[in-house]
Amino acid sequence: MPDAQIEWREDFSVGNDQIDDQHKELIRITGEFISHCQIGGVVAKVAFLTTIQKAVHYVKTHFAAEEAVMKKAGYPEFEIHKRQHEEFVNEVVRQAKMFEREDNPNPGEFSRYLMNWIVEHIADSDKKYIPYIARLDSAR
Ligand SMILES: [Fe+2]
Repeated sequence: MPDAQIEWREDFSVGNDQIDDQHKELIRITGEFISHCQIGGVVAKVAFLTTIQKAVHYVKTHFAAEEAVMKKAGYPEFEIHKRQHEEFVNEVVRQAKMFEREDNPNPGEFSRYLMNWIVEHIADSDKKYIPYIARLDSAR
């Protein structure tokens, strides 16, 4: 297989079931997309469109939930984190426009972007709020 696959790992966990479940969903969507990209051709093209749609839906539900938890926990890097979410949204919109215009749509590029996002964002940035949201959990 040309590209690596991605799967949920225990060390992706941020210790909050709701957020973990949403992260698992993005990883599942990305894994499926990577498999379709590996098949290529029409399969990859159709998967590109459905993945964009799923990513839009994902962004709406997940970022809102995650930002609400961070805000409630008084996470000091909230604004920086929110900006990273906005960058993700911008990229999804850019990909959607590229697909619409048939402007050399590149499913493989988007699948790599999603994979990098998971590794860099979920496994790194999201982990920084763990101590803050953990305090929130114990206060309940
Ligand atoms: Fe995040």
